[in-house]
Amino acid sequence: MDKIVIHGGVPLEGEIQINGAKNAALLIQCAALLGEGKTTLRHVPRLSDVRTMGRLLERLGCQVGGDRTLSIDPAGVASGALEAPYELVKTMRASVTVMGPLLARYGRARVSLPGGCAIGARPIDQHLKGLAALGAEIELRHGYVELRAKKLRGSAVMFDMPTVGGTQNVMMAATLAKGTSRLENVAREPEVQELARFLNKMGAKISGAGTPVIEVEGVESLRGIDHAVVPDRIEAGTIAIAAAVTGGDVLLRDAPVDDMHAVIAKLQEASVVCTVMPHGLRVQAPPTLGSVDATTRPYPGFPTDMQAQLMVLATQSHGQSIITETIFENRFMHVPELQRMGADVHVNGNTAAVRGPTPLSGTTVMATDLRASASLVLAGLVAEGPTEIRRVYHLDRGYESIEKRLRPLGARIERFHGAPG
Ligand code: EPU
Repeated sequence: MDKIVIHGGVPLEGEIQINGAKNAALLIQCAALLGEGKTTLRHVPRLSDVRTMGRLLERLGCQVGGDRTLSIDPAGVASGALEAPYELVKTMRASVTVMGPLLARYGRARVSLPGGCAIGARPIDQHLKGLAALGAEIELRHGYVELRAKKLRGSAVMFDMPTVGGTQNVMMAATLAKGTSRLENVAREPEVQELARFLNKMGAKISGAGTPVIEVEGVESLRGIDHAVVPDRIEAGTIAIAAAVTGGDVLLRDAPVDDMHAVIAKLQEASVVCTVMPHGLRVQAPPTLGSVDATTRPYPGFPTDMQAQLMVLATQSHGQSIITETIFENRFMHVPELQRMGADVHVNGNTAAVRGPTPLSGTTVMATDLRASASLVLAGLVAEGPTEIRRVYHLDRGYESIEKRLRPLGARIERFHGAPG
């Protein structure tokens, strides 16, 4: 197992090219199942989640090749088992979003139920409700969801909450249904919009992505296409906070500024100088960081995927910051680790009160989930003395070689192979 060691205290400075978005790439990989012919994806980040999705597509019978530029040819899927096995789904929940495309194009799918995960229970009832409304027969047997439908039919679906994966799964299924579907109370996240753009390029007829109502007019078939994945708003936000907490000045090349308004607003509230440039976002730390309150909300609200990172900023801000998590029930696992580094955080239910500024001191910490790990890297960058982060595989799911990305900005960060778990 790898570990990462950071010697903090260096202001990050320079330019960094923002990578393709993990959560957009994963869903577009699934959507390639819908196309007749090969799909080519560009700007795909090198992440373990992307590789896991590639393995799942191969298990389903796709030919998958390339790195950074991926090719996916689903020609062999029709004759395969159409099954997403437990070993893959348990390592990556996004695997459940093959349900919609498999069902729509091949008429059946067998997908392991994901179970809970570190950040919460994360049920998939809304995915199933939507697919059932489109005419899928669904059975839960032996830990698997078995879905069948000769031909899906367009329908109205009212989601109980704006779920990102649920919206994407049902939207993909509806593309090949007979007739028009109207999906209400859908997620508006940029990754939903990006998936809709991708599907429309394949020949789908989707309107309203980015609003609370999406309409999908079913078509007979979709074709494989060439597509470049949008830049990652969460990677950009994470590095923006790295610049802010280290007293740095970083240009985030191709940062998707329009998708980052909530994060930029919070940085500005903390007095961080954010300047939109022709090719990205410049982030300059102020002499003194101000406190900042934030509540995670579905897009366009403040993203839950930036909550742990914002908490590190709050530890360096003057005054008390209140951070509330409303999307997932167990997403404060970074708190005990940050406390071990000296952070003054008090959790009450889903609210954390953070008092700052507190000097952080480096120690050995344990990554528990992807964004929690990112917060430990940020804490390591400001801490005095070395910070050793264990269980780096969580980080590698969503940040490409973080040490290689941050070193050119001046960070003293190294990876060691073969650390204890
Ligand atoms: N929910 C249900 N029933 C459902 C679906 C969702 O109760 O059928 C609940 C969930 O338990 C959760 C809330 O609704 O409390 C929101 O979940 P959502 O479905 O929106 O999340 P997701 O699709 O499972 C994606 C991202 C997450 C990100 C969330 C929220 C991907 C692959 N994952 O998950 O990303 O946190 O949206 O924005 O797109 C990450 O990248 O670190 C990550 C966890």
